Amino acid sequence: MATDSPYPELKKSHTMAHRGRPWRDYKPPPSGPVWAVIQGVGSYWMLVAALELGVFDAIERLGPSPVGPLADDLSVSAVHLQHLCDAMVSFGFLDQVDEVYELTETAERYLCTNGPASMAALVRVAPGPLANWEHLADTIRTGVVTQPIDDIPEAFYGPLVQATFPTQLRAATRLGLRLGWARRPGLRVLDLGAGRAPWAIAVLEQSPDSTAVVNDLPGVIDLAVHTVAERGLADRVRFREGDFHDIEIEAGEYDVVVLGHICRTEGDERSRSLLARAFAALAPGGTVLIADYFADNDRKFNPFGVQMGLTMLANTARGGMLTNAQVTGWLRDTGFAGIRMIEPIGFNFVYVADRPTTPSTFPTGDRA
Ligand SMILES: C[S@@+](CC[C@H](N)C(=O)[O-])C[C@H]1O[C@@H](n2cnc3c(N)ncnc32)[C@H](O)[C@@H]1O
Repeated sequence: MATDSPYPELKKSHTMAHRGRPWRDYKPPPSGPVWAVIQGVGSYWMLVAALELGVFDAIERLGPSPVGPLADDLSVSAVHLQHLCDAMVSFGFLDQVDEVYELTETAERYLCTNGPASMAALVRVAPGPLANWEHLADTIRTGVVTQPIDDIPEAFYGPLVQATFPTQLRAATRLGLRLGWARRPGLRVLDLGAGRAPWAIAVLEQSPDSTAVVNDLPGVIDLAVHTVAERGLADRVRFREGDFHDIEIEAGEYDVVVLGHICRTEGDERSRSLLARAFAALAPGGTVLIADYFADNDRKFNPFGVQMGLTMLANTARGGMLTNAQVTGWLRDTGFAGIRMIEPIGFNFVYVADRPTTPSTFPTGDRA
């Protein structure tokens, strides 16, 4: 027997041609990845239940706690709560030492309602309508989504933008520190599909005397009106209700145009059209921001971006994966220059690109 054989138990005659791959026949891969996916469904609902019951907020309020007092506080079954808390320990959201449960830093930051980067409200809305997941095979068979969120914009986007505001405001604020908005007074901002307007708000809070036009659909824009007023910025913002493909936009009047998490639901053609609108709206030297969750160009090295792409495909009429190459291609084709990518907070990427100041660099002659 050859000493260097990786499978010394195999005879020389057990070649792939005769018996198949030794790996498959004698040393099968573990089934763990399949179990991980199966348990993914349960894991998701375990977290939803813990949030719905207020487990993290209760531990924050009570301090480290055994299950008994915690169950009394929440008025739930102690046996059942202990199972749930143990599952949260398995996810790394709680620690358990000598039967006392306490929050991990992850839970403090992301899962407590008042955490500094709370995602507590996002967990329930982020996957989109659950029926779309049950019918995913049909969607892929037919190419048609059962309940696209485009049909229920107010019902879907209202809770979504409520939930994403803290994260996007943090991303936008960090981006502003990188781009030096504080040193650039009087910026004129156009925020398309603004939600609660985290991107416009971050510019206004950093750049003195800046102003913004904030757009969103009827029913959603009220949330922006409320949030802008709450932050004391109402006198610097105008609201432009309507579809961002149709609303009137002044030509060459803006220093910053924001497309914040809107392209991945729009598809290639409509995103290109939005970028052309952004280009026309910018003054020469102005900057477009495209914030989104992008996939790598090979669609296999960034599982978060790839899976976010499928989430869009499953839930929207036209959306899907956005690769870095696709987006930089749009930007170049539209005539933008100085294209760079910034990751102001983990997993939140923003393409930043400028409308050139010299008309001769425009790809077509009619955009100036
Ligand atoms: C994922 S949210 C992003 C919100 C915000 N820009 C951010 O980055 O947090 C998408 C937003 O685009 C808005 N939207 C979707 N389609 C739109 C359209 N055709 N015209 C205007 N707004 C639209 C939604 O109502 C929602 O507020």
